Amino acid sequence: MKPKKKHLLLLWMFICSGMTEAIEPISTSIAVGMAAALTGFLASYQNIFYYFHECCRPEWISFNKTGLQVDLERKLFGQHIASRIILKAVTGFMSNDNPRKPLVLSLHGWTGTGKNFVSQLIAENIYKEGMDSNFVHIFTSELHFPHASQLETYKSQLQQWIKGNVTNCAHSMFIFDEMDKMHPGLIDGIKPYLDYYDKLDGVSYRKAIFIFLSNAGGESIIQTALNFWKGGRDREEIELRDLETELSLAVFNNKKSGLWHTSLIDKNLVDFFVPFLPLEFRHIVQCAMAEMKARGLKPDQSVAEQVAEDVVYFPKAERVFSVKGCKTIESKLDYYA
Ligand SMILES: Nc1ncnc2c1ncn2[C@@H]1O[C@H](COP(=O)(O)OP(=O)(O)OP(=O)(O)O)[C@@H](O)[C@H]1O
Ligand SMILES: [Mg+2]
Repeated sequence: MKPKKKHLLLLWMFICSGMTEAIEPISTSIAVGMAAALTGFLASYQNIFYYFHECCRPEWISFNKTGLQVDLERKLFGQHIASRIILKAVTGFMSNDNPRKPLVLSLHGWTGTGKNFVSQLIAENIYKEGMDSNFVHIFTSELHFPHASQLETYKSQLQQWIKGNVTNCAHSMFIFDEMDKMHPGLIDGIKPYLDYYDKLDGVSYRKAIFIFLSNAGGESIIQTALNFWKGGRDREEIELRDLETELSLAVFNNKKSGLWHTSLIDKNLVDFFVPFLPLEFRHIVQCAMAEMKARGLKPDQSVAEQVAEDVVYFPKAERVFSVKGCKTIESKLDYYA
């Protein structure tokens, strides 16, 4: 690191940590005067600094309940159960000044149904910088932990990373993508941080948020949704209890699911299992409309329907659910719009 950059980083850490108070106790009266002036300067400088540089402070981290509620209602399509659970879970946790454990959410469902998207909505309503925040950390199994032989190294690096970041900011968020591909040993390594400990090695993890994303249980969710559809019942009638048992069994018994090997479930470390339903034609239309809006185009229903027509659905005969959810809509729109 270049010396100038290093000084800036030290200054950032110094100011962000509120250590400026440590400058004051100098014994001579002149020095006291100077220190007071310096403190005054630093105090105002500090405020300006907080304004421009992300710090672990309310200016940068504050939960917007209404924002999350509106985002879930308007931006997340076809996920009435996930939407409800997430709003309740995050609101309850963020409004508790003294949570007994970190919030642990496990998001399950078919591909392209909104698991990453919802994590982004949560981050955007907690951190001013959203997913770009220095306090949001995302890990992808195949990208960050590709070699099983390196397990011990990954494990200690991950533990140090979590510890270091939570020490720096209690309100840190850790998102583990492709949880089903994560080595069980690695999940075991993060287990202590999810538990009901007051402190571990002097660090409290109770204000952190852990979000696990996976496709585990996706098939069982589809089966339930399909049964409702075949029974002529409204999708919105599906309730958590219709999925819960099947879902936990599927996750529990699936050797590929990663969670299976650990005692995450046994020890009740996961606070909420959040099921994501497979998406239907009308949701694909909504995704296409939203994407047009995001591009600054006037949303065109007939174009959106054309895009949705072109998507592959299953089961083959009935064409009920989109094979890739809303995942390919963005690129498909380039072709139609
Ligand atoms: N339910 C939804 N409501 C609105 N947009 C959605 C929804 N599901 C997916 N999308 C759109 O599709 C994109 C891809 O979805 P996302 O990455 O969240 O899927 P995923 O569930 O994480 O899939 P995978 O299991 O393959 O990782 C999102 O960025 C979003 O634009
Ligand atoms: Mg994803």
